[in-house]
Amino acid sequence: MRVFVTGVHGYIGAVLAPYLMQRGIDVCGLDTGYYRDGWLYSDNRNLAWTPRTINKDLRNIIEEDLEGCDAVAHLAELSNDPLGQNNPALTHKINHHGSVRLAELARKTGIKRFVYTSSCSVYGAGSGDFLDETTAPNPQTAYAECKALVERDVGAMAGRDFSPVFLRNATAYGLSPRMRFDIVLNDLCALAWTTRRIAMVSDGSPWRPLVHILDICEAIHCALKAPDAAVTGKIFNVGADSENYRVREIADIVAAEFPGCEVSAGPPSKDNRSYRVNFGRIHRELPGFKCSYTARDGARQFRELFERIQFGPETYQFRAFTRLKQLKYLQSTNQIDAEFFWN
Ligand SMILES: NC(=O)c1ccc[n+]([C@@H]2O[C@H](COP(=O)([O-])OP(=O)(O)OC[C@H]3O[C@@H](n4cnc5c(N)ncnc54)[C@H](O)[C@@H]3O)[C@@H](O)[C@H]2O)c1
Repeated sequence: MRVFVTGVHGYIGAVLAPYLMQRGIDVCGLDTGYYRDGWLYSDNRNLAWTPRTINKDLRNIIEEDLEGCDAVAHLAELSNDPLGQNNPALTHKINHHGSVRLAELARKTGIKRFVYTSSCSVYGAGSGDFLDETTAPNPQTAYAECKALVERDVGAMAGRDFSPVFLRNATAYGLSPRMRFDIVLNDLCALAWTTRRIAMVSDGSPWRPLVHILDICEAIHCALKAPDAAVTGKIFNVGADSENYRVREIADIVAAEFPGCEVSAGPPSKDNRSYRVNFGRIHRELPGFKCSYTARDGARQFRELFERIQFGPETYQFRAFTRLKQLKYLQSTNQIDAEFFWN
């Protein structure tokens, strides 16, 4: 099987490509390279698993780019809430229209399986009760709105010849050479290591389900291989029920792995995103899938990595590890234009 992986130079893509290749799946990558400057640690074991990659914007893909591929795993988007809010109109162009167009091209080219990396952020502002795939989305940001729109529009294309699957990932954490410190557990680990102090900017009460980056890779792997009847047109939350945490619990888990780290809470936040998610369906219905990691494992892996590479505050603050910082830098230095095309 050859899979066209978009966003292959991103946080998840950089781990997903070797993960699939080591399991006998050929990968053809695509990425425009917004975060090319950021590479946190050398990962020599995986260098042999570097896929051939097309350096191109998602919006410019043509049918020929997809030739010879049997499936698509689509990750390339403006990939978090702050990034989406920075430019909602452009987020719709890339994330919604770009993704639907890619699905149409894939179908036209005769590619059947289309795995889309959606997000639990479509649930938005929940009441604290468990939400599942039958709960109506309540997106609070342009990023989450686009995820719900792609699910709707690409979901409507499902049929005998086209088999899209939608993976609503919880918030990711874990090691990737293309590191991101704008996601909660990664950020708190870096704070704990560099300052021995986690001063939360909120009271820590919102619910945030977490999922390890390797469990996301396994979900994508299972979704690529599953028989049509098990997955076509289906949405799966990706994570585990036991990995729903309040933000302050995440801070406590991290502090326990970084000796001497203190945690303090701030005032209640204006950010009303909070969701607690039921992950029963993916464990029942996606053949072969199970989650293997906990947040505590992730925090331990970060501590071990930071020790090994002598991680310091300058690296933590480096723009290419925080998406909004990097895109603002590329814009202010005229490297990308107002539509985020390279100049
Ligand atoms: N990281 C998470 O917590 C998380 C959670 C849920 C869902 N997801 C989804 O998983 C996917 C991958 O996430 P990630 O964390 O690896 O994101 P990322 O931002 O690290 O990587 C995205 C990659 O896509 C590329 N890209 C962006 N726009 C592009 C365009 N127009 N054309 C070509 N390439 C483009 C970027 O250069 C980048 O390398 C995204 O769709 C994201 O929304 C991520």
